[in-house]
Amino acid sequence: MRTQVAIVGAGPSGLLLSQILAKHGVESVIVENRSREYVEARVRAGVLEHGAVDVLAEYGVGDRLHAEGLRHDGVYLQWPGQRRRIDFVQSCGHSVWVYGQTEITKDLINARLADAQQVFWEACDTAILGADTDRPTVTFVDRDGNPASIEADYVAGCDGFHGVSRPTIPEALRSVHQRLYPYAWLGILAEVAPSTDELIYALHPDGFAMHSMRSEKISRLYLQVAPDDDIANWSDDRIWDGLSTRLALDGWTLHSGPTLEKSITPMRSFVSSPMRWGRLLLAGDASHIVPPTGAKGLNLAIADVKRLGAALVRSIKEGSDDLLDRYSDDALERVWQSTYFSWWMTSMLHTPPVEDPDRNFLLQMQVTQLRHVTSSAAAAAGLSENYTGSVLPYP
Ligand code: APR
Ligand code: PHB
Repeated sequence: MRTQVAIVGAGPSGLLLSQILAKHGVESVIVENRSREYVEARVRAGVLEHGAVDVLAEYGVGDRLHAEGLRHDGVYLQWPGQRRRIDFVQSCGHSVWVYGQTEITKDLINARLADAQQVFWEACDTAILGADTDRPTVTFVDRDGNPASIEADYVAGCDGFHGVSRPTIPEALRSVHQRLYPYAWLGILAEVAPSTDELIYALHPDGFAMHSMRSEKISRLYLQVAPDDDIANWSDDRIWDGLSTRLALDGWTLHSGPTLEKSITPMRSFVSSPMRWGRLLLAGDASHIVPPTGAKGLNLAIADVKRLGAALVRSIKEGSDDLLDRYSDDALERVWQSTYFSWWMTSMLHTPPVEDPDRNFLLQMQVTQLRHVTSSAAAAAGLSENYTGSVLPYP
């Protein structure tokens, strides 16, 4: 096969890139190692920056988001005995939207298939060959067991943290910055109306807790747990008890309900640069991971592919590589800003492990920081600009 852009991975990055390219008349083929059902069911993030919403709308996948998504104009930050609201609109003039990544993925898949776009689901043994030549090729074995290969002008590595794209770049050319956090998130999806109108991020001596939502009927909640903890140790009762204790506030009740999904996710910050090697371009989790506390992972993926889409269209349609040559440097500016913000939010809200000799001191610093950020207009504006994504213009 031959196409203009071969895309590895059908997560939000790969699907949206294909959508952007198609709208500009550039052809692409996606190779994905999981099934469509698996990709559509994978529960992940749920908060979109206003700029990310604009990108999705610009490329024709904003209708259901605007109809079913929830606009949030603020967020609650909590520590024992206190819950204070930060008003994004008042602080920086912007909002965020709560809309599940599963729904974005479904909307994008439907849009791609409606366009008769080719997606190879359940491909295995994907490899990228000749990325440093003029004829890069993606090879794989299709779901019927037949070997296949796609020759392209460019290959987009959108295959997430565990994909094959990043390791295709010779190690000597890659620079990695990372931090593994000494805690993880246990997340549940529950069939119960949210007990709050906006997200609550809570610091508690037992560990961080958070209340998010997916709709008026579905809640999403998280608990800080040890990184080596096993989900088998957490019965539904134990999870709800932990959430009730950590989110407790006088006069407020947390409503529980049947748990639809539960899992533990490790937390890391990771940036691999550059995001380009020859004709291979990385986007999204393939190149960087943030801890979920800042709600940035999905937004970074969207910002990357908006930029990458424009750069590929310019090269393929107009013969100019200027945007492609700048892609990695330009994209990394936002990546670093979001990496910083996610690290800052994570550090402010998670309790240090009990073995940490500085634990008491650090907890006091965290409460002081929460007080400051919820009482100083300037500090609240800093958080709001970062959370809503207005800190940097969208590409
Ligand atoms: N070959 C083909 N596809 C692969 C391979 C491979 N070798 N390895 C992984 N994939 C697929 C995965 O199955 C997945 O569908 O690549 C896709 C990568 O999708 P994501 O991990 O969702 O990454 P991305 O599209 O960059 O989206 C980033 O998703 O992971 C969340 O929190 C993250 O919100 C962020 C967003
Ligand atoms: C979510 O709704 O899943 C969610 C929201 C905010 C975060 C992380 C996850 O910071």
